[in-house]
Amino acid sequence: MFFDHIEAAPADPILGLTEAYKNDPNPNKINLGVGVYQNEAGVTPVLSCVKQAEQQILETETSKSYLPITGLPEFGRLTRELVFGQGHEIIAAKRAVTCHCPGGTGALRIGMDFIKQQNVSPTVWISDPTWANHYQIATAAGLNFERYPYYDRATHGLAFDRMLETLSQAKPGDVVLLHACCHNPTGIDPTLEQWEQIADFLKEKQLLPFMDFAYQGFGHGIEEDAQGVRIIASRCPEMIIASSFSKNLGLYNERVGALTVVCADEAAAARVISQVKISVRTAISNPPAHGEKIVTTVLSDPQLRALWEEELTGMRERIRDMRVLLASKLKEAGAGDFDFVMEQNGMFSFSGLNKDQVETLKKEHGIYIVGSGRICVAGINQRNVDALAKAIAAVVKA
Ligand code: LMR
Repeated sequence: MFFDHIEAAPADPILGLTEAYKNDPNPNKINLGVGVYQNEAGVTPVLSCVKQAEQQILETETSKSYLPITGLPEFGRLTRELVFGQGHEIIAAKRAVTCHCPGGTGALRIGMDFIKQQNVSPTVWISDPTWANHYQIATAAGLNFERYPYYDRATHGLAFDRMLETLSQAKPGDVVLLHACCHNPTGIDPTLEQWEQIADFLKEKQLLPFMDFAYQGFGHGIEEDAQGVRIIASRCPEMIIASSFSKNLGLYNERVGALTVVCADEAAAARVISQVKISVRTAISNPPAHGEKIVTTVLSDPQLRALWEEELTGMRERIRDMRVLLASKLKEAGAGDFDFVMEQNGMFSFSGLNKDQVETLKKEHGIYIVGSGRICVAGINQRNVDALAKAIAAVVKA
């Protein structure tokens, strides 16, 4: 027997929760696990700008033939403009190249495959805590990973000094994976001054920044959320960025992400993309088209672009409102001071609840949050917030 020795793997710490939630017969169950936006009605909607773009694509598409290995050039251009801003020196100098990958995860994986295959570096430094998949992706790509501290439980803030102290052990040439905004799971981002210091540090220590940019537009705005990336780019001549359109365009199951590699000059960029093409060809051959065409249509049509920005603002503001509501309901329920959730950015709140408390929330209250205590604030609404606050108060006081 070839497969008898294979042991069952544990369920995925995030996507496994959705399965468990679906199987739970509790009529009052609440899913605050996976990072998926839900509106006030508890629905993950297709954005109107996306619907309209799809209509256009349906009417004008004449072929389903393969896309280029790196995707449509227009998609790459629009992604770079979103990341760096129109007219940025990196764009004008043609020293960044972009490749469409299936989702932010695809971009991370293709990026790490490229790092491994081209002997860029053996080691990637990853924040602790982080999105659980980061460690697995690095390992699957054949890279070693080290962890750097990120979160200070006592202050609910960034452990900035400890982070740089630990990273000073990195060897020149090592890769440092950073969350560009809306750090997952903590929701804590560096201030602009801290980004400046991180940028100087990376440059001085000759470390390669790899930015996971999965939540552009969910923190403070499309431009505001790009400041960290742009500050790093102003100091470090080379960097890698993994963008995702899953969240900001609600294209979760279309799997649209992008890998952008910034090089010292145009000639290096041309060589790099030729090798990235091989990483893509061997992993997925070439990218799926539908989601990429949606993004390209929305970002290039002024009317759809404006509609998108309005819809994205609506999602961001609803999440901010839910943070304020949750903090006040928790206070009301006697759970203690959770005001810090109002300072966090993006979809998640790092609640401070421990594994046992998370387990009790699930077993006794039908409330699903990630084992680290991460709550998806984007799943909270006026109807479930009271039950959530009371349940958290009960487990905190137990
Ligand atoms: C999350 O962190 O919940 C999302 O990024 C979804 C995922 O793939 O884990």
